[in-house]
Amino acid sequence: MENLHPDLERVLLTEEEIQKRVGTLAEEIASDYADARRVVLIGILKGAFIFLADLSRELSIPHMVDFMSLSSYGDRATTNGAVRLILDLRKPIKGEHVIIVEDIVDTGNTMKYLYNTLKGRKPASLKTCTLFKKDREHLEVPLDYVGFEIPDVWVVGYGLDYADRLRTLPYIAELKKEVYQE
Ligand code: PRP
Repeated sequence: MENLHPDLERVLLTEEEIQKRVGTLAEEIASDYADARRVVLIGILKGAFIFLADLSRELSIPHMVDFMSLSSYGDRATTNGAVRLILDLRKPIKGEHVIIVEDIVDTGNTMKYLYNTLKGRKPASLKTCTLFKKDREHLEVPLDYVGFEIPDVWVVGYGLDYADRLRTLPYIAELKKEVYQE
């Protein structure tokens, strides 16, 4: 690709590939929930806001969006998976058909926390959707909709950041190792 940002190693998925897959995910969801009164899409800030914006605009069935924000305690590489709730939903989800929408599942700790927390609020149904999933085994949470499985490297773009930079690239790319390894 021309004019690749100097911090990037290579593009993993182009804008066209991502947009096409977002469209087919929306079709899958619309088909699965064709009989539901409505669906509640819960976007996890910050990373999921771009995917959620595109997914919701492609989704042809009645739905509403809400948001949660979470933070991991300490360094992601060393943390044992403790997650802190920063911002909660505006409305109760009891009796609703809920889909958790993430940009990426890496260790699975965030999605596991979300799944268990929201399950306890007695939704009519609860599913999980992530656009990107790292190539790992032994995830302790069910993933119902997965856009792409990607290699275990640092990726940026389409919602994913490095120190809050490069989040708004329309494609996703691998960050050069020298950028994050001192
Ligand atoms: C990212 C991503 C997920 C989480 C996945 O968020 O958006 O929420 O990490 O990682 P896990 O599977 O190992 O738990 P991050 O903490 O970088 O925050 P941000 O979305 O606000 O940038």
